[in-house]
Amino acid sequence: MTKLQDITDFADRVLTWFEDHGRKHLPWQQEVSPYKVWVSEIMLQQTQVTTVIPYFQRFMSSFPTVESLAKAPLDEVLAHWTGLGYYARARNLHKAAQQVYQQCGGVFPNTVAGLESLPGIGRSTAGAILSLALNHRATILDGNVKRVLARHQAVKGWPGATAVHNTLWDVAEKFTPTNNCKAYNQAMMDLGATVCTRSSPSCLLCPVSADCIAREKNTWQNYPGKKPKTIKPIRQTTFAIMQNTEDQVYLIRRPEQGIWGGLWCFPEISQANSSITEGADKTEVLAMFRHTFSHFHLDIEPIVFTISEPLAELREGGGAWMAIDDAMSKGLAAPVVNLLQQLKTRALS
Ligand code: ADE
Repeated sequence: MTKLQDITDFADRVLTWFEDHGRKHLPWQQEVSPYKVWVSEIMLQQTQVTTVIPYFQRFMSSFPTVESLAKAPLDEVLAHWTGLGYYARARNLHKAAQQVYQQCGGVFPNTVAGLESLPGIGRSTAGAILSLALNHRATILDGNVKRVLARHQAVKGWPGATAVHNTLWDVAEKFTPTNNCKAYNQAMMDLGATVCTRSSPSCLLCPVSADCIAREKNTWQNYPGKKPKTIKPIRQTTFAIMQNTEDQVYLIRRPEQGIWGGLWCFPEISQANSSITEGADKTEVLAMFRHTFSHFHLDIEPIVFTISEPLAELREGGGAWMAIDDAMSKGLAAPVVNLLQQLKTRALS
């Protein structure tokens, strides 16, 4: 059982460490606001800080307020996300901005429950917004914090499992101090990112190593526990890369639901729509490649077709002919970026 004294002491040590070693100059820490913290937290969910910084800066210059984000076309928001991946994050960001603007007069809710009711905001992101932007006492538990706490308290098992997840939240709640929660939460994330790293923790530099159970037993590698391995199924598809005599390509906007929702992509050829290539000449089958999603592998066979006339429309709805450079500025499915680059290189050679 952890004593109250130890809990206070844990937060104090983390806060003292933060004074000298915490990150205080990140772009979302300047003139901080719930909007900035929210956007940065969503970007940082699956992406490293160094990658996020330029994306965050471009995003803030284009959409400086929740109102400007709410009023922007989804396509423009998705275009700012190209390269960050996990596009549902961008769609949710856009939807949540509209809710905050329309239903809350542009002011973010100031409770965990209110924030959690917005699309894409979970318990930890809600806690980050309240603590980092408003210095409320609120708990966070992102990947970095999970690693620090799982090691310190030797919480066994994969954090995706409900029981492990609940235990880690209990520990996180218990350690969160009443005062200075903003600095404490930022410090915990920084500690995880810079000291208690996944594969080479620097325990000598850690302010909480003295009572870290994993350190004492030299078992830090066991925490957090790994996800039990599952084999991903393999799916296959064929992309129809249509090019017309004006060197334009035909892209369709994917439906909101499903993979690459709302992003531009080459039409997929299936039995149901094989007619889309009628009147086109099959010119080349490009090398098959694999794109891996969280739940399956997708093997993609790209086939290039040429169309003798620049047809205004194909038979499938929601598509458009566009020059490769124009296509590049849209929100694109990841494999489409590579294929367009290949096409561009070929056109130049
Ligand atoms: N990862 C998630 N949120 C972060 C933040 N505020 N600072 C640094 N890394 C983070």
